[in-house]
Amino acid sequence: MDSAPEHIVVHRSGPLHGEVTVPGAKNSVLKLMATTLLTNGVTTLTNVPDIADVAIMGDLLDAIGVTTAWHPTEHRVLQLTNHGALTPVAPYELVERIRASINVLGPLLTRCGTVRLSLPGGDDFGSRPIDMHMAGLEAMGATFTIEHGYVEAAADRLHGANITFDFPSVGATENILTAAVFAKGTTVIDNAAREPEIADLCNFLVAMGADVEGIGSSTLVVHGVERGSLHPVTHEVVPDRIQAATYIAAAGVTGGEIRLRNARYDHMEMLLRRFVDMGLSITAQADGLSVWAPERMRATDVATLPYPGIATDYKPLVVTMLAVADGVGIVTENLYPGRFRYVEELQRLGAEISTDGHHAVVRGVPHLSGAPVRAPDIRAGAALVVAGLAATGETVISGIHHIDRGYDDLVGRLRALGADIERRPG
Ligand code: UD1
Repeated sequence: MDSAPEHIVVHRSGPLHGEVTVPGAKNSVLKLMATTLLTNGVTTLTNVPDIADVAIMGDLLDAIGVTTAWHPTEHRVLQLTNHGALTPVAPYELVERIRASINVLGPLLTRCGTVRLSLPGGDDFGSRPIDMHMAGLEAMGATFTIEHGYVEAAADRLHGANITFDFPSVGATENILTAAVFAKGTTVIDNAAREPEIADLCNFLVAMGADVEGIGSSTLVVHGVERGSLHPVTHEVVPDRIQAATYIAAAGVTGGEIRLRNARYDHMEMLLRRFVDMGLSITAQADGLSVWAPERMRATDVATLPYPGIATDYKPLVVTMLAVADGVGIVTENLYPGRFRYVEELQRLGAEISTDGHHAVVRGVPHLSGAPVRAPDIRAGAALVVAGLAATGETVISGIHHIDRGYDDLVGRLRALGADIERRPG
């Protein structure tokens, strides 16, 4: 029998003190998992976050022909076994649960020559088309038909092409990159996305035997190799910059001093500079970051942009920080216009925010006031948890399955920093 959904219950907390280890990145591990479709054998991923989306991607890969299992003794180690007999079909029931399921398209097409994929779902914050994925693959010789909610792609063998994106799409870059691995000839992707998670994917591919140049830059060059010439590897997942930012935001709204083991300053530089403008002191260390936060932060303006700009995924956290900072800050969303839905929930906690199209104007108040709220998606859910740390009384967050999709023990990690937070049966 299913138990009632849990809630997260938060009381005003802080100052926070202590150390947390930042888990591996959701937006990397899911892509790495999909990429194991390219080679037979057992791939081992380490520093894998224990999150619901990893299990969902595991179910999808299982349906295609790759089995996934946690290592019996080693912590956060995932083993993926590609048995070689792949069924290149990604069914609706699995695909609609995560956007990253679209990442099986490139590997399956290049390896099997055909794919049938349900059109993807994902977070509920606006339409997320796949036209750039398809246009890029068409330039490499693929043909597409869309029928009954499924995309069918075919290409006996893809060929290299020069592809210039209008916009550096993360997902499209990843699909073209993986598809190009077995294409005949050279593929050049211009205006490629250059998020740290894409560099992680490139490094993973190179370790497997692929030929990729320009890693970390906006021009990726892939020289195709023969099908069957890759081999499985052991690879450590890059740390999650969004989870790292969540703990910094938590310290920001409560004050205090924390250390984030494994956090990468160079992966978050633009955001961290803004945090410094807000009064935080942040020091890069060999194995992480140390963060000191004042009693009250100052407001600043923030605009989201593709990497190395400030990621759209940080935005709910930034809005929450501004909600209790001193002054007025303007946040501009340049990627997903619909991504201000959580603002109504923050307003229920007493935040003074007005939105207009792509902009949110946030007038800081000294503290928020606890109330029941609902998590609308992963990042906004985490932001509501952070808001609860700065709210008098009790904040009860429902819809926490969203948070569990992308956060590895958020409650436990915040408790370790001294936050008054728990999961409670609904
Ligand atoms: C990924 C991340 C997501 C993050 C986003 C931007 C994963 C699982 N998700 O999503 O958390 O917020 O990058 O950093 O890694 N677009 C098109 N046509 C396309 C592809 C994209 O119009 O073919 C548009 C999208 O609708 C969106 C924008 O481009 O407005 C960004 O999309 P993209 O960079 O592809 O993001 P995702 O890979 O979906």
